[in-house]
Amino acid sequence: MRKQIFLQDLINRMSMEEKLGQLNLLTGAMDSTGMKNSGDLVPKIRNGTCGAVFNVFTPSATRTLQDVALESPMGIPLIFGYDVIHGHRTIYPIPLGLSCSWNLDLVRRCAQMAGAEAAADGLHWVYSPMVDISQDARWGRVAEGSGEDPWLGSKIAAAMVTGYQGASLAEDGSVVACVKHFALYGAPMGGRDYNTVDMSRGEMEETYFPPYRAAIEAGARTVMTSFNEIDGIPASANRWLLTEKLRTDWGFNGCVVTDYTAVTEMKSHGTSANDADAAKQSLDAGVDMDMVSEVFITELPQLLATGDVCETQINTAVMRVLELKWDLGLFENPYSHCNEEHARTRHLCKENRELSRLAALESVVLLKNESQLLPLTKQGSIAVIGPLADSRRDMLGCWVAAGDEMQACSAFEGICEAVGDRAVIHFAKGCDIQKENDSWLADAKIAASCADVVLLVLGESWQMNGEAASRTNIKLPKCQRKLAAEMLKTGKPCVLITMSGRPLDLSWEDKKFSSILHAWALGTEGGRALADIIFGTAAPIGKLTMGFPRHVGQLPMTYREKSTGRPYDASIQYSSKYLDAPNDALYPFGHGLTYGKFRYGKTVVSSSMMKLDETLTISSEITNLTQHPATETLQLYLRDLVASVSRPVKELRGYERVNLAPGETRLVSFIITSKDLSFIGRDLKPVIELGEFDAMIGPNSKELQAARFTLCC
Ligand code: BGC
Repeated sequence: MRKQIFLQDLINRMSMEEKLGQLNLLTGAMDSTGMKNSGDLVPKIRNGTCGAVFNVFTPSATRTLQDVALESPMGIPLIFGYDVIHGHRTIYPIPLGLSCSWNLDLVRRCAQMAGAEAAADGLHWVYSPMVDISQDARWGRVAEGSGEDPWLGSKIAAAMVTGYQGASLAEDGSVVACVKHFALYGAPMGGRDYNTVDMSRGEMEETYFPPYRAAIEAGARTVMTSFNEIDGIPASANRWLLTEKLRTDWGFNGCVVTDYTAVTEMKSHGTSANDADAAKQSLDAGVDMDMVSEVFITELPQLLATGDVCETQINTAVMRVLELKWDLGLFENPYSHCNEEHARTRHLCKENRELSRLAALESVVLLKNESQLLPLTKQGSIAVIGPLADSRRDMLGCWVAAGDEMQACSAFEGICEAVGDRAVIHFAKGCDIQKENDSWLADAKIAASCADVVLLVLGESWQMNGEAASRTNIKLPKCQRKLAAEMLKTGKPCVLITMSGRPLDLSWEDKKFSSILHAWALGTEGGRALADIIFGTAAPIGKLTMGFPRHVGQLPMTYREKSTGRPYDASIQYSSKYLDAPNDALYPFGHGLTYGKFRYGKTVVSSSMMKLDETLTISSEITNLTQHPATETLQLYLRDLVASVSRPVKELRGYERVNLAPGETRLVSFIITSKDLSFIGRDLKPVIELGEFDAMIGPNSKELQAARFTLCC
């Protein structure tokens, strides 16, 4: 009540220019995340025509601009935002990597740490979580999301929001989350960033919307629009999306901000003739804040004068922005979040580094370990080879916010630290990330020939994924494959460690290497975590959240595919298949090995009949066949055999991580309700239909054992 009275009174006293100022989000120059810059912010802040700023951080930089805002006629404090995507100062694994932990509490704690570090730097608002589902590894931004699965993606989205926002925004260390990119940004045609999206409403509801919605249900206070169009209408002008779906259907009552210059980009989309047209369409659609385009401020006054937009629309948007500021406690203490002391004690502190190391440990995925080359013992001589082996910057990955590579630990550094003087380490780069180098290659051959074992660290540089980094070729660069071939020729045992921001086509490597460890970009403590795994101080436990294809030509692909009318059968000519590759992934969704072996028992259902209002228990026995403790994540998938709308051949509906003692057998059970069997029906609403289902349990989405049951009334 006090809030409403205060804010309404404020709005009543504001000039139209000041109101539009609150809707104007500008970029500072401490980082550059788009093509247009906003110039000198000070005069705009001073006259009240800028309501929020991003790409400015540190207590002193934000304080300086906040001082200016407080001197503006209304003295309304600024909100400071930033792309804190996987850590602010202490960087943890890229989101796609972290999602492979399947550890929601870890994800929440990482987001909380990032938020607290960002807050100490004067920030209030993080442009995260990025919850765009993607089935296309060509798209560089898969690095920023949580993979291909909407069910798991939704859980991760909610965990991140809770981590960022805490119990209350006014609490020290809480920041406002921004769910992005609304919507469908992860499905551009051809995997090309910013490209057109064309999708059925059913697929939107079933696969792409759930994580946005989960984030909103978890309380996310802001939503960022996407660059792409939906049904031929750019997201930032799509009223169906931003108002009917988001606000009316899902009950969102926070702020909608556009992506970087997305409003003026409508001219390039060919859906707005000019800036005024674009500004009107955005405001009408339900946008509250214009990021960097500055056309709300320049165009809306004239549109108001002609009656093309009305003051109520503007007041509504202004109220949403001001409410956010109020809830952040900014009217009471405009400097509440910026705190030199906190910055000193929080940034890169011991606990944060430890959490980052744990997150890195849990993100690594052991793709293959056929002859059990891993873990290595710390003895003899080890050659650490490859262009990524000693790169701190690439260990941090794309979108590192204020992360500092000088604070990071490369794979080579982590290995040296772990080994100490117990083994001799030889290092050679072998080649550049994308370029051959004969003399480096010669050095690598010498290093390998002196060693007992070769650790080859290959993959993508940090610039090869992330925004505007789509690729048509997702193999390792040629020069790196040449290096790999040369290393294999030495006849020394070779372990391949891959780093990337996307699933790669590792079909050649899979044939050549018996051990492959996938390390994404692991963040500040990446090298140490990797060494822990290489030497068996910790075992890998990550499970892929996006399948690795056999060939780029399979993309987009998902384990949640439909059966089609002519299901895959290699021996049938007219079945849905390729002539030159199998349909499935090389390393499927959910895949990930550890230093251990398990035996799965049969999948058992508690009853072959399940009534609508009953639960059903689905179980499997699992045995640790090794002589040491081992951890496994069991996964439950369901399939609806006959429905009014075709259903995926399997869908993840549960998982459980278990730690098993040597030789231990444990019964692991999942309890489902009929809600777990619901899907988006013909009328685009959730529906539950009676009939037969398969319940499948296994170590990944491919190696599953099924049990059938019937849902009845
Ligand atoms: C990206 C967003 C980001 C924004 C602000 C855009 O180019 O698509 O994800 O939050 O820039 O930096």
